[in-house]
Amino acid sequence: GIMREVMGINILEQRLREMLQIDEVIIVSGNCDESPWVKKELAKACAARMKHEWKNRRTIAITGGSTMAAVADSLVSDEYSKGVTFVPARGGVGEMSQNQANTIVEKMAQKVHASYKVLYVPDQLSDEVYASLMKEPSMKEVIARIKSAEMVIHGIGEALVMAERRKSEPSVLTRLVEQKAVGEAFGYYFSESGEVVHKVLTVGLQLEDLTPEKKVIAVAGGKKKAKAIQSYIRGTHATTVLITDEAAARELISD
Ligand code: G3H
Repeated sequence: GIMREVMGINILEQRLREMLQIDEVIIVSGNCDESPWVKKELAKACAARMKHEWKNRRTIAITGGSTMAAVADSLVSDEYSKGVTFVPARGGVGEMSQNQANTIVEKMAQKVHASYKVLYVPDQLSDEVYASLMKEPSMKEVIARIKSAEMVIHGIGEALVMAERRKSEPSVLTRLVEQKAVGEAFGYYFSESGEVVHKVLTVGLQLEDLTPEKKVIAVAGGKKKAKAIQSYIRGTHATTVLITDEAAARELISD
């Protein structure tokens, strides 16, 4: 209705902050689903927000996805960025190369003259491989660094879109449909009420590692992602900053 149309961005941010019970919401105009430049605006907002933090939060964990790839393009170096180390949040979660966390951390580091570490592990590990990888000393070192990250920046996806993009097994897809998964972040899949209904078994950050002292920034826009964003935030309450677009925000509030 007309009330919603006239509701300014500031009010929208405040409403969403209250509704989702998170510290900070940043909204950019437009709808990612319709205009590709809106994703660039999300990315710019994230890059600007990161700048405020990286003087004091120097190990930054990053997930994969096209939104995070756009963030890499938007980063601008400053006097503190050299001191940053970018690390992938988790082992491979099956995306094509340009959307993989390893690729993105390398690009971010190059952009701002920072350091980076990669984590080359196969995707969707079996229990046995997982257990033996966890004993590798070089692996342990990178994982410890990842777990100590002071800031985590991540995307949020629609559950089925992500499962298909990762070419997940048909059994996984069936399970996600049956369990009514709607959202995905970090390889965790959430139902509308925020329950974890599936997770990709891999090394690196686990949901329980997102402790309150970490600054967690989620970046996700587009009307289609509204339910996904809500499911993830209901499920974790880990995110302290949400960067989204107007279309997702209005959809969330009207629900
Ligand atoms: O985990 C969530 C996805 O990385 C989001 O991917 O930014 O390409 O929509 P996207």
